[in-house]
Amino acid sequence: MDRIRIVGGNELNGTISISGAKNAALPLMIAALLTDETLILDNVPRLADVAQLQRILGNHGVDIMSAGKRPGDREYQGQTLHISAADIIDTTAPYDLVSRMRASFWVIAPLIARMHEARVSLPGGCAIGTRPVDLLILALEKLGADISIDGGYVVAKAPGGLRGADIAFPKVTVSGTHVALMAATLAKGTSVITNAACEPEIADVAACLNKMGARITGAGTPCIIVEGVARLHGARHTVLPDRIEAGTYAMAVAMTGGEVQLSGARPELLQSALDVLGEAGATVSVNNDGIRIGRNGAGLRPVQVTTAPFPGFPTDLQAQLMALMTCAGGASVITETIFENRFMHVQELARFGARISLDGDTATIRGTDKLRGAPVMATDLRASVSLVIAGLAAEGETMVNRVYHLDRGFERLEEKLSACGASIERIRD
Ligand code: UD1
Repeated sequence: MDRIRIVGGNELNGTISISGAKNAALPLMIAALLTDETLILDNVPRLADVAQLQRILGNHGVDIMSAGKRPGDREYQGQTLHISAADIIDTTAPYDLVSRMRASFWVIAPLIARMHEARVSLPGGCAIGTRPVDLLILALEKLGADISIDGGYVVAKAPGGLRGADIAFPKVTVSGTHVALMAATLAKGTSVITNAACEPEIADVAACLNKMGARITGAGTPCIIVEGVARLHGARHTVLPDRIEAGTYAMAVAMTGGEVQLSGARPELLQSALDVLGEAGATVSVNNDGIRIGRNGAGLRPVQVTTAPFPGFPTDLQAQLMALMTCAGGASVITETIFENRFMHVQELARFGARISLDGDTATIRGTDKLRGAPVMATDLRASVSLVIAGLAAEGETMVNRVYHLDRGFERLEEKLSACGASIERIRD
């Protein structure tokens, strides 16, 4: 299993180009199942999760052609995928494939909408009726699907097709909103989705669906209206930039000091994180090419942050902010409201000498002058990158083990950071 070795202490200076957003690329690829024509997606990041979804779609009979960099492409621009679901040969998504990535469960929406049947393995250990897919099922049931559970599979049937409905989510859910939106595009009649997630990736998927002939208004707000259409057609769409990747590198620069241009980043997608970085003492400016982030000399100030659905502070940047606050001049408080148990990184950060105490959903981080490098283990995608951030600032050597978590969501991480002066390398075993 690959490891990442970091020798901390170097400032970051230079330019990092921001890749396409994983959390938009995955549902966009899944949306290709809604049409028998080709969907072309540009700026798709090269990530393990994208490759895994390609395998899952392949199992349904989807053909995917990927084209790489072309002459004249300005910088690295991600890959272009031509996705054709002309013939869906199988409406079952098996356990082996779905269990590796939660988002793959979302194929249930286009399959039931277009094929009127789907059989999709439950993604993880949770029982139905509690987390994690009860709200996705609620949405499909509202749209007229008949749902049962059989041998760990969710079996959905709608012999006459789905019907438009009012879907009021009791809790804001990104996955629920994606599923409701995709399924409603091919339902008969109008659907109104309320308390919808407002994440930019939802709006990006809706924009693509509209290019495919869907009639969606209000995506990006808590109320989305979908007028169902009989069929969708092919389209071409560029995946929006990854706000979590941009926020992660911004935190890394705030941690090490220096100045980095985040090329292609869109400030309006991560304003809450930029505000927190400003409060913590980083300098943030916006220009035509993206965001410029720096910290020169001044120490880090502690902050109080609570994660929240968009436009609040993203849970996907919580671990990175915690790493940053380990070096602040005082005590910071971070409250996690989206996911339970999303503090797996705390014990690993402690190996660097970080002083963090936990009380339920709240972490108190007492800043220290010096972190020291350590062997650490990545536990999940965002937690693992927080260890990289700590390692960049820590004195001496850090070895991050189990980096496959990083490869799920961060494209060419060590290349991007070393180009800005970090001492970081991948050790292939
Ligand atoms: C997506 C993102 C993930 C991000 C999260 C919150 C993708 C691929 N992943 O995850 O990176 O951290 O949004 O911004 O886009 N819930 C239920 N029942 C359900 C569905 C969700 O109780 O049926 C709960 C979850 O357990 C969680 C909360 O709702 O506590 C939010 O989950 P959700 O917004 O759906 O997250 P994901 O879409 O899984």
